[in-house]
Amino acid sequence: MRRPLVAGNWKMNLNLAQANELVAGIRAAYDPSPTVEVAVCPPAVYLIPVVKAVGDSGIAVGAQDLYFEPSGAYTGEISAAMIADTGAKCVIIGHSERRHTISHHEDDWMMNRKVAAALATNLTPILCVGETVEQRKAGQTLAVLTFQLIAGLADIPLADPEQVVIAYEPVWAIGTGQVATPEQAQEAHAHLRDKLGQIAGQQIAAGVRILYGGSMKPDNAAEIMSKPDVDGGLIGGASLKPDSFVGIIRAAAAAAV
Ligand code: PGA
Repeated sequence: MRRPLVAGNWKMNLNLAQANELVAGIRAAYDPSPTVEVAVCPPAVYLIPVVKAVGDSGIAVGAQDLYFEPSGAYTGEISAAMIADTGAKCVIIGHSERRHTISHHEDDWMMNRKVAAALATNLTPILCVGETVEQRKAGQTLAVLTFQLIAGLADIPLADPEQVVIAYEPVWAIGTGQVATPEQAQEAHAHLRDKLGQIAGQQIAAGVRILYGGSMKPDNAAEIMSKPDVDGGLIGGASLKPDSFVGIIRAAAAAAV
């Protein structure tokens, strides 16, 4: 049985006071449940205060990115060890806003090095994969997912399924309000699990959490998460308000029973 994970990706939003207020709001509304794991991913400069703010609530903290080198002359970058030092436990890797924006244009080789760097530091990588609208229209969705998954995990032996989390994030659904149908999500997730089985073996594949991300809200979360291969969500916009984030956590708890 996979324990669903609901992770909030705050992106470049909130100031410190608002971040603390959001965590307090989530803590006040959320009933810790052994059935759902919860994480919030603030901007890197707020990792330390947010780790403090979540305290013993059971909410984990994650970073939104890392750089794969351990140290050196990489101005502006942050290593996996630095992230782990803050008390963060996980890190988003390969979000489409890093793969596709002009200033970053990160490629799959880089994702792979980042996943390896996270694992070497005992951070859980949340590896994002997903097709653009053009790729979906051209019927390339499953091929794109296969490529991104295989490239991202190349030469990375997995001994435990909880070492990594995969997030299926169709680029056309991120921040657009246009959500994948539960059937589209299930098709992509089942495909990813099948490919994971080929890479890492069936037993590992059966235990890896595959999250859905892209305009997930409390009113569509339950249906998407009721699909057998959807194990939670990576939430952008709806993670910035306690009510909507906790609404999604509750939907995940309901789907898990
Ligand atoms: P969204 O973002 O929920 O605002 O669509 C999801 C994500 O980018 O992870």
